[in-house]
Amino acid sequence: MRDVDFSGSTVVVTGGACGIGRAIAEAFAAAGPRLAVLDVKHEETASLLEELPGEGHLCVTGNAGVEEDVRSFAEKVLECFGRVDVLVNNACITRRGILSGCSFEEFNEVLRVGVSAPYLLSLLFRDHFSRGASIVNIASTRASMSQKDTESYSAAKGALTSLTHALAMSLSPFGVRVNSISPGWIDTGVFGVLSPEDAFQHPSGRVRSRAVRTPVPPGTGITAAGASVCLHKKGHPRNGVALVYVPKENNVNGW
Ligand SMILES: NC(=O)c1ccc[n+]([C@@H]2O[C@H](COP(=O)([O-])OP(=O)(O)OC[C@H]3O[C@@H](n4cnc5c(N)ncnc54)[C@H](O)[C@@H]3O)[C@@H](O)[C@H]2O)c1
Repeated sequence: MRDVDFSGSTVVVTGGACGIGRAIAEAFAAAGPRLAVLDVKHEETASLLEELPGEGHLCVTGNAGVEEDVRSFAEKVLECFGRVDVLVNNACITRRGILSGCSFEEFNEVLRVGVSAPYLLSLLFRDHFSRGASIVNIASTRASMSQKDTESYSAAKGALTSLTHALAMSLSPFGVRVNSISPGWIDTGVFGVLSPEDAFQHPSGRVRSRAVRTPVPPGTGITAAGASVCLHKKGHPRNGVALVYVPKENNVNGW
């Protein structure tokens, strides 16, 4: 990312105040764009604005699961910046699953944050994406492999993965590329040590049931609109950042 110049671009990140989203926001900010972040955590969102390099960023406290918050955020982004070059749909939550008695409302809440918000933002920005713009949806390996009691989260990630290839088809005429990334376990400091069951989920053997930090080899890329990249390993929030930048020259359609 350090070698890429995003000056004059607008990069939108949801859930950018903590964890992977914050690493993405910070990495982009270092490359020069104006950043727009929506996050539900007020203090962390305010501190992000103070700490981001560069000027003119927009950090808004709001809930991606609430339609009015998403609409008001999108309006502010367009008022301030006029167009969008990169949209990273990163925010998600879990309300666990059937064994914990996850309710209808809790299940829908996860879908609203993890799937409906990415759809709504894509819709609201549809006519304001620059040609060659990129939507990156942060999915999860849970989209295709689960652990017990993860129904709300797994369903949201499966839906987000499908939304990715549907949007890629629909937005291709607009010159907008749409991809998803499916991280394995990323150590954001909240999980502690992984269990053998956690490790077993990733048969590559690169997720271990103890704290390990091994870097993702550089140069792993996304080559086509609608692609999904899976990271079956335990990593650091920064590991996904290189993948979020989808080089235009790698796109099969040439935009
Ligand atoms: N950490 C992992 O192991 C892992 C693995 C696979 C996928 N992911 C995905 O990566 C993304 C980031 O995960 P993370 O581990 O950094 O999570 P995190 O919980 O550390 O951070 C999530 C961020 O999203 C914000 N957020 C939560 N609900 C929101 C809402 N309703 N509206 C706006 N903002 C909201 C939080 O305040 C926080 O800043 C998520 O989509 C997650 O599903 C994470």
